[in-house]
Amino acid sequence: MENILNISNLTKTYQSAGRTLTVLDNINFTVAAGSTNAIVGPSGSGKTTLLGLCAGLDRASAGIVELNGINLGKLTEDQLAQVRNQYIGFIFQNFQLLPTLTALENVMVPLELRREKNIKARSLDLLDKVGLSDRGHHYPTQLSGGEQQRVSLARAFSNAPRILFADEPTGNLDAETSEKVVKLLFDLNKEAGTTLVVVTHDLELAAKTQRILRIKGGRLIADDLTING
Ligand SMILES: Nc1ncnc2c1ncn2[C@@H]1O[C@H](COP(=O)(O)OP(=O)(O)OP(=O)(O)O)[C@@H](O)[C@H]1O
Ligand SMILES: [Mg+2]
Repeated sequence: MENILNISNLTKTYQSAGRTLTVLDNINFTVAAGSTNAIVGPSGSGKTTLLGLCAGLDRASAGIVELNGINLGKLTEDQLAQVRNQYIGFIFQNFQLLPTLTALENVMVPLELRREKNIKARSLDLLDKVGLSDRGHHYPTQLSGGEQQRVSLARAFSNAPRILFADEPTGNLDAETSEKVVKLLFDLNKEAGTTLVVVTHDLELAAKTQRILRIKGGRLIADDLTING
């Protein structure tokens, strides 16, 4: 199968108080197009940092991130933004909804950037899918954590991404809502062939993917196929 993501010798360091902090240390892996993958590991091990680099939200200190055949390190900020809008969906650990826009408007943003048609109707449909059709006019501060998470999910789905990176997508949800969100993630994978890369502490969610990557102290320490793989 074709690889949508090729990560080679990926390293991320931060300088602070004259010291070098190595957050990701020479990571190598590939992700097959259409596959489902979980990334697990202790708090502070580098999972969010890794997702951010894979999705072109942040730049590597060394090594290569190749997404859909494009070396992200070679792109300007504008080109990176274009690649993100064209191919990538992202669900953040802390939602990152735009505070001055309503739930509906937040979902509409990626479609507007792509100058698509029927933007409002499609966004309402997406909000309905995550069970929030009656909350479209609410601002993020008027929504609970789980509701904000679901808006961010609808937004991530709105541009039918080729690859979706989700950072703890069920981290703030109750069991019932979690189940709905997980079903949405896997339905999207099945229906649209969207590749999934999900950071999670939820072992039930991880077990539903085809493969589990384990990160510890900035290193990839295991890479195993699950029963689905
Ligand atoms: N801008 C930064 N400057 C310095 N250190 C940073 C910066 N961003 C992240 N780090 C450090 O990098 C390490 C990895 O952080 P990261 O957020 O990737 O961990 P994580 O695995 O996602 O943890 P969690 O499960 O708690 O979300 C942490 O030790 C963190 O303090
Ligand atoms: Mg994190």
